[in-house]
Amino acid sequence: ADGLLRDTRGRALHDLRISVTDRCNFRCTYCMPKEVFGASHQFLPHAEVLSFEEITRLARLFVDVGVRKLRLTGGEPLVRKNVEGLIEQLAALRAPDGEPLDITLTTNGSLLERKARALAQAGLKRVTVSLDSLDDTVFQAMNDVGFPVRKVLAGIDAAQAAGLGPIKVNMVVKRGTNEHEILPMARHFRGRGITLRFIEFMDVGATNGWRMNEVLPGADIIRLLQAEFPLVPLQASAPGETAERWGYADADGRHDPALGEVGVICSVTHPFCGACNRARLSTDGRLFLCLFATQGHDLRTLLRGGADDAQIGEAVKGIWQGRTDRYSELRASLPPDTEKAAPRVEMSYIGG
Ligand code: GTP
Ligand code: 5AD
Ligand code: SF4
Ligand code: SF4
Repeated sequence: ADGLLRDTRGRALHDLRISVTDRCNFRCTYCMPKEVFGASHQFLPHAEVLSFEEITRLARLFVDVGVRKLRLTGGEPLVRKNVEGLIEQLAALRAPDGEPLDITLTTNGSLLERKARALAQAGLKRVTVSLDSLDDTVFQAMNDVGFPVRKVLAGIDAAQAAGLGPIKVNMVVKRGTNEHEILPMARHFRGRGITLRFIEFMDVGATNGWRMNEVLPGADIIRLLQAEFPLVPLQASAPGETAERWGYADADGRHDPALGEVGVICSVTHPFCGACNRARLSTDGRLFLCLFATQGHDLRTLLRGGADDAQIGEAVKGIWQGRTDRYSELRASLPPDTEKAAPRVEMSYIGG
C-alpha cells in the first residue's frame, strides 16, 4: 500500500552497499587473512569489474525501486582509481521526490588523509572509518601489514576537516585480541563528534577461522563501558539500523550530545535480520541479498547483454520480492556442515 518494494518477510529495500573493488591494502585477520589472500590469490580481472557508468546506471535503477542510501565498500574502496569520479556521478542521482541520496563510504582510513578533500568535493557526505585499536602492536597484528595507527587518525582528522561528518569509527572486537582496547578507544573518541561502534566478530566468508569463543557479546561491551561512563539507551535513528545506540550521559543521567554516543553491532548475539533492508552489489555486478549468501544474482550479464532499464528494473524487483534471507537469525540452528556444502562468499568481495 505504501508502494515500497518488499521481500517475502515484508522487508523494504532501502540501502544498497556497492563494492567497488575486491582489493585491499590491509590483510585484517578477520577479513582477508594473508594465508588465503597472498601473492597467488586471483583478484578480479579488469574486464569483470563494473565501470563507473555501469555502477551508476544500476544505482539509478535501484533508486527507482526504493533505495535511498548508497554505501561504497570494498575491499578498500579508496584503492579504486578515481573513486571520487564515481562519487560525483552517484551524487548527481536524485530520489523520485527530488531529494539527494545518502551517500557514504566505509574505509580503512589509510588513504583518507590524501583523499578526504577530493571525496567531499565530489559530493560524499560522510565516512565510516575502521580502526581496531589505538595501540600499534595490537593494530598492526590485526591489519597484518604493519600499518600504523597514527596514519588512520590523521585520515580521520582530514575527514573531519573536510566536513565529512558525522564520522563513525568501526572497531571489530575479538576476545583475547583487542578487548582491552575498548576503553582506550572510548576515552579517545568520546566528546570528539565521532561515534564509535563496536562490532561483534562475525563468521562472514569461509576463511577467517571464526570461533564463537572469540566473540565478545555487545552486552558485555556495554557493561564494560558503563563501569567508567554512564550510558543511556538511544532510539534507533533509522529502521533496520545495524547498531544499537547508547548516549554518554551527563551528571543528571541525561544524554549529553556534546559527549556523543557509542554503538554495538551484535550480529551474532542479537541478530537484526527482521528489519534488514540492505542489498549488496559485488565488484563484478552480482546482487547479493545477505552478507552470508553463498550465491548472487548476475546483473552484469543483463547490463552488458543490452537489456533496457525496464528489464533490469524488473529483474531487480523480482529478486528482492523473492528474498528469504535471515542468516544471523538461523545461525544457531544450522547444521554444522552447512558451510562446507556451499562456501559463503568473502566479505571483501561483496563489501560487508
Ligand atoms: P550506518 O549507515 O552508519 O548505520 O552503516 P552500517 O552500520 O550499515 O555499515 P558499516 O559498513 O559501518 O557496517 C558496520 C558493520 O555492520 C560491519 O561489520 C558490517 O559488516 C555489518 N553489517 C552491515 N550490514 C549488515 C547486515 O545486513 N547484516 C549483518 N549481519 N551485518 C551487517
Ligand atoms: N566481523 C565483523 N566485522 C567485520 N568487518 C570485516 N570483517 C568482519 C568480521 N569478520 C568490518 C570491517 C569494517 C566493516 C565494513 O566490517 O572492519 O569496519
Ligand atoms: Fe581490508 Fe577492510 Fe577487510 Fe581489513 S576489513 S582487510 S581493511 S576490506
Ligand atoms: Fe540481513 Fe543477512 Fe545480515 Fe540478516 S544476516 S541482517 S538477512 S544481511
